[in-house]
Amino acid sequence: MAMILRNFIVFEGIDGAGTSTQIEMLMNSPHARKFFPTAEPTNGETGRFLRRMLGGEFRLDPRTAAYLFAADRCEHLWGTGGDDFNGGIERICAGGKIVVSDRYLFSSIAYQSVTCGGELAKMLQAPFPLPELLFFFKIAPEVSLSRIGGRGKREIYEEVEFLRKTEERYERAISEFEGTGMKIVTIDAAKTKEEVAAEIIGAISDAGMLER
Ligand code: TYD
Repeated sequence: MAMILRNFIVFEGIDGAGTSTQIEMLMNSPHARKFFPTAEPTNGETGRFLRRMLGGEFRLDPRTAAYLFAADRCEHLWGTGGDDFNGGIERICAGGKIVVSDRYLFSSIAYQSVTCGGELAKMLQAPFPLPELLFFFKIAPEVSLSRIGGRGKREIYEEVEFLRKTEERYERAISEFEGTGMKIVTIDAAKTKEEVAAEIIGAISDAGMLER
C-alpha cells in the first residue's frame, strides 16, 4: 500500500474548480506561515516544458505527456522541487511546514486516463506517496468553464466534453483511494470562495495539522 506523506495536503479538481484561488486564500489567512504553497506542473524545467505543451505550442504523444507529468512529480517530491524551493516536497514536509500542492498524482490519473488510458496513468503513480489530506473540488464543467471564460486564452484541456470525462475519472479514482489512510474531503466548489475557504481551514484543523 502507498505510503502517506505527513504534512502534505493536495487540492484537486478540473480546470476552473477554484483550487488556485483557495491556495491564495490560505496564504492570506492567519495560518499562512504554517504553509508552503506549490503546484503541478511545477515551475521547474520539466513543468515549464509541460506548460508550453498545454498552451498548444507543440504536440506530444499523450503517453509522452503522461511520463513527463510523472517526471515533473518526481522532481517536485525528491529533486529541487521547483525554481523557488531548494529541495523537494518531502524535505519541506520533514522540516515541519505543511506543503499544499495545487494538483498532484490524482490529476494524472484523471486527465491522462482520458488522454491515454487508465492503465498507464495509474501505473506511473505507483512510486509516489499519498498526501495526508486530499481536497477534491467537485464542480460541473459548465460552471468551471464559465469561470475560466473570463481569463483569456484557453489551454488544450479546457473544453467541456473533455472536462466532463475528466470529472468522472476523478470521482472514480478518488473513491478507489478510500481505505488507504489518506483523508479525503470533497468540497462543493460551486459555493462561494469564502464558504469553501472556511471548510478547508476547518478540515485542516480537524485533522490536527495546525497544532503541530
Ligand atoms: P492548471 O493547474 O489549471 O494551471 P493554470 O491555472 O496555471 O493553467 O493547468 C494545468 C493543466 O495540466 C490542467 O489542465 C491539468 C493538466 N494536468 C494533467 O493533465 N496531468 C497532471 O498530472 C497535472 C499535474 C496537470
